[in-house]
Amino acid sequence: MGKRLLIFGPPGAGKGTHAARLASDLGIPYLATGDMLRAAIASGSAAGREAEKYIRLGELVPDHVVIALLEERLTLPDAADGFLLDGFPRTVAQAERLARRLASRGEHLDGVVALEADEDVLVARLSGRFICPRCGRTYNRLLRPPRAEGVCDACGASLTQRPDDTVAAVRHRLREHRAKTEALMAFFRSVGWPVRSVPSVGEVDEVYGRIRKVAEA
Ligand code: AP5
Repeated sequence: MGKRLLIFGPPGAGKGTHAARLASDLGIPYLATGDMLRAAIASGSAAGREAEKYIRLGELVPDHVVIALLEERLTLPDAADGFLLDGFPRTVAQAERLARRLASRGEHLDGVVALEADEDVLVARLSGRFICPRCGRTYNRLLRPPRAEGVCDACGASLTQRPDDTVAAVRHRLREHRAKTEALMAFFRSVGWPVRSVPSVGEVDEVYGRIRKVAEA
């Protein structure tokens, strides 16, 4: 039986960096609401059109949009026996919805991996992140710079920044995260979801080692 886990933390904490690897190592699907929303935007769907204006400003997308996308994904057979959620829940309403879904199916959540890092580190990481719009490869000015500034090593396309990775949007996302965290943590405790805090600073492999240890505990 696979685990049901959440990875939680502020923007830039490294959720995406570590979660795909963790899900693969644990043999469970990786479900990231940020990726689902960006795919909806790229597809031009009604949900994507609604989400885009919030994401661009660094604001949370309304609960009904995100919940509908995630619930649709959770009905696919690969999520029946476990999953790793990244970016969900972000509000108490989302968390309540997930708790009700689990309870109605007689399932439980194995744990919440809560990544932590200082705000100046998060701003530096996110404002230094660049993406290749052609092949999807990601770079970071601090961690993994391209060989030539602004150019993808793999395919030569010009690198772009996520619209919500500008310093202003990042600061807004961090404020949103702070405003929601206390109530979410209280909810996690109230329903007995074990929260394991992990410092997300240092070498990527070193952080991953800490995450893997708590995820398997
Ligand atoms: P989402 O895509 O979930 O973004 P986020 O939570 O803001 O997280 P990021 O992807 O920016 O950061 P991360 O923690 O994954 O870090 P990463 O590994 O990429 O959401 C985007 C938007 O969608 C939200 O703002 C909201 O509008 C909307 N949304 C999504 N879910 C929603 C929901 N449930 N409800 C409502 N709205 C929702 O790392 C960041 C950078 O740091 C990378 O470049 C990486 O290489 C680097 N890095 C990572 N670890 C290290 C390290 N140890 N050392 C050096 N560099 C590192």
